[in-house]
Amino acid sequence: MCHARSVTSGTVLLTGGAGYIGSHTAVELLNAGWDVVVVDDFSNSSPVALDRVAEVSRGEGHGQLRWHRLDVADTEQLAKILADEGVEAVVHFAGLKAVGESVAQPVRYYRVNVGGTASLLTAMDATGVRRLVFSSSATVYGEPEQVPVVESARLHVSNPYGRTKLMIEEMLGDLATSDDRWRMLALRYFNPVGAHPSGRLGEDPEGIPNNLMPYVMQVAAGRHPFVRVFGDDYPTRDGTGIRDYLHVVDLALGHLAALRAVGDVAGCVPVNLGTGDGSSVLEVLAAASRAVGREIPHEVVDRRPGDIASCYADPTLAGDLLGWRATRTLDDMAADHWRWQSDNPEGYRAENGAA
Ligand code: NAD
Ligand code: WQD
Repeated sequence: MCHARSVTSGTVLLTGGAGYIGSHTAVELLNAGWDVVVVDDFSNSSPVALDRVAEVSRGEGHGQLRWHRLDVADTEQLAKILADEGVEAVVHFAGLKAVGESVAQPVRYYRVNVGGTASLLTAMDATGVRRLVFSSSATVYGEPEQVPVVESARLHVSNPYGRTKLMIEEMLGDLATSDDRWRMLALRYFNPVGAHPSGRLGEDPEGIPNNLMPYVMQVAAGRHPFVRVFGDDYPTRDGTGIRDYLHVVDLALGHLAALRAVGDVAGCVPVNLGTGDGSSVLEVLAAASRAVGREIPHEVVDRRPGDIASCYADPTLAGDLLGWRATRTLDDMAADHWRWQSDNPEGYRAENGAA
């Protein structure tokens, strides 16, 4: 089997590249000399984020950033962009990601996540672009039978969002079986948190955040009275839920490593991106309090339905295959997240009107 050459730079298309993880990934790719083309419908982001990407990634040897407002469901226009821009590889971030919302709107999640990926693959095949890095999620493991979790662990999804991720991974596997020219990595992210150390890029959730760290930081900023700790009766060291929190810049660098390696993989390979360490809710609260410089109020309330006790990665394969390991600590994550929150209390909205 021929192995396509690994690429160390060139032109890469990021679908959903204006989002939280995509924008941070764009910065690291530009810094590494890649030219970056973003396709985004801005349904959960703003062009302001791309202005900030350009702002923090200027300088000698940096790549060029271009973007197109587009729904990935528009296969024809997507193929035109792939061809016109001379794209060599794609990172597919575009999609919907809220578990609770997926339960209420399952068909929308299948249409956008699974249908949108099918549209992208069709456009890529039509233009001969067959290197893909896909945003999967540790949610495909459900409640792991054993931690740390390895990629060969049982897959068990319990909500429509997780099912879309698993379906997409299976679709990529079937595609690779049908045509061995495809080279794909399915990156299973654990819990991305934090923000770019400049304070100019960060997570900008619509409405009240479901995830722990953004909610904690909004409490610290005075937008909510206290953090609700969803249960302290789990079988863990302090009774609260344990997760593998990963700095978004480490995650972005994982995509750089994946792009460099994807030309050498056969088929579609799933890879965990996590630190390999688990932190409890109370430990996250303590790190956030250190970052903010004062105690952040919290109250223990009932467990959140569907939550699991403990989930953290075995990142061995990411080290062996991609040469990647996370290096940033929970305190780094909290400090960078707090800088973004306090410098941008309204996220990108303050400048949105000007976009
Ligand atoms: P995000 O919502 O910030 O970014 C997604 C981007 O995709 C947004 O800019 C949105 O406007 C865009 N988008 C959505 N539907 C689109 C469409 N049909 N066409 C074009 N653009 C579209 O989310 P994120 O946190 O950056 O996550 C990126 C990817 O990583 C998602 O696929 C998500 O499922 C996955 N993921 C996220 C997490 C997490 O905790 N953030 C964890 C695991 C996996
Ligand atoms: C972390 C811990 C909660 C909020 C989710 C999605 C998953 C992925 C990552 C996309 C848990 C506790 C939370 C709060 C709390 N996203 N918590 N109070 O649930 O591990 O994963 O985001 O792929 O699909 O399920 O992350 O940040 O919501 O929760 O006590 O206000 O914090 O019980 O133990 P989760 P989370």
